[in-house]
Amino acid sequence: MPSKTKTTTVFELSQFGKIEKRERNIPELAANEVVVKMHAASLNYRDYLITTGAYSKNLPLPVVPLSDGAGEVVEVGSSVTRFKKGDRVMPIFMQAWISGRLNKDAAKSALGGSIDGVLQNEGVFPAESLVSIPSHLSFEEAATLPCAALTAWNAMFEHGCVQAGNTVLALGTGGVSIFALQLAKAAGAEVIITSSSAEKLDRAKLLGADFCVNYRDNPDWDKTILQQYKDGVDHIIEVGGAGTLDRSLNTVRLGGHISAIGLLAQGQFDATKLLMKSIRLQGIFVGSREMFQRMNRAIEFHKIKPVIDRVFSVDQVQEALDTLKSGSHFGKIVLKF
Ligand SMILES: NC(=O)c1ccc[n+]([C@@H]2O[C@H](COP(=O)([O-])OP(=O)(O)OC[C@H]3O[C@@H](n4cnc5c(N)ncnc54)[C@H](OP(=O)(O)O)[C@@H]3O)[C@@H](O)[C@H]2O)c1
Repeated sequence: MPSKTKTTTVFELSQFGKIEKRERNIPELAANEVVVKMHAASLNYRDYLITTGAYSKNLPLPVVPLSDGAGEVVEVGSSVTRFKKGDRVMPIFMQAWISGRLNKDAAKSALGGSIDGVLQNEGVFPAESLVSIPSHLSFEEAATLPCAALTAWNAMFEHGCVQAGNTVLALGTGGVSIFALQLAKAAGAEVIITSSSAEKLDRAKLLGADFCVNYRDNPDWDKTILQQYKDGVDHIIEVGGAGTLDRSLNTVRLGGHISAIGLLAQGQFDATKLLMKSIRLQGIFVGSREMFQRMNRAIEFHKIKPVIDRVFSVDQVQEALDTLKSGSHFGKIVLKF
C-alpha cells in the first residue's frame, strides 16, 4: 500500500507584499536529509527587503521566506549520522556553504530567497546544512543566530582579527550590531555603539558598551569618537553602507579594518581615504557552517544570551516585519511557532 503523503503548514510569499498560509506536501526524504519541526524563526533586514520586492524583483515566487530558524529533528534519512530524532538544530543561512571560501553555488543557496526558507512548520534540510543549538539557548534565542550573529562573528574573528584591548565600533542597535557588541566584549575588546535613540544607548551600556554616541543628535559622530579615541578605532562593523562609510573612514585608525556589511543609508564616500589610511575594507556575506560552529563554541563557553526585543506569533509575521521596518527594535525580533 502506498504510504500516505504528509503535509505541513507553510507561509508562502506568493507575490511581493503578500504572505499566505498554505498546506504543502512534505517531499519524500532523501537519504542525506532530515525533517526539522520549526519552533522559532527570527527576522533580518533582508527579510523585509525580500518580502517587499526591494531585494530583487527576479526572485522565483512563491517562496517560503525567512532564513533564520531553530527547531527539532523529527525524522532522519537512511544515511544520516550527524543528527538523530529529538536533536535541537538550526539550518545554516547558505545551505551549500560548509567550509572554505564562498563560491557561486553557495552564494545561490541562501534560505528564504532563491530557495525556500524556514517559515514553515516542518522543513526538509540536508543534514550537513544544520548545526546544533548551544545547550543554554532556547529555540527563540537560537533562531537569532544564523544570519545576524554569524555576520558579526565572521566580520570580527574570521576576516577581522579583533583581539583583547582592541576598539570596535558598531553602528546602530539592530541585530548585527548588538551581536557584535556582545561577541566583542566577550573577546575583551572595548566597544563603541552609535544609535538614533538615547534609550537604546542606555540599554547598550547595560550590555557593556564602553562609549555611546547618538548619531541623530550628533551627526558629526565621527568627530565625537575621535575626541575620545585620538588614534581612531581598530575595527568597524559598517551596517550603514555608502551613507555612513565616509564617517567610518574618518573614524578608523591607520591600518584599521572596516567590515562592509549593510546598506541602510544612502550617500557617497571618498575612496581616497581607503588608500591614504591603508585600511582593509572587507565585504562580509554571513558565513559558512564551520564559522557557525566556531561561533557556537564561543557563545556556549561565554554563555552569551541573544538580545530579543519582541516575540510575535508566527501568524503575526507581517506585523513583525512592519516592526522591523519601523526601526523601533533593539536586537532581534522573533516569531514563535
Ligand atoms: N552582509 C551580510 O551578510 C549581512 C548580514 C546581516 C545583515 N546585513 C545588513 O546589515 C544591515 C543591518 O542589518 P540588521 O539585521 O542588523 O538590521 P536591523 O536589525 O533592522 O537594524 C537596523 C538598525 O540600524 C541602525 N541604523 C539605521 N540607519 C542607520 C544609520 N544611518 N546610521 C547608523 N545606524 C543606522 C538603526 O539603529 P538605531 O535604532 O539604534 O538607530 C536600526 O535600528 C542591513 O542593511 C542588512 O541588510 C548584511
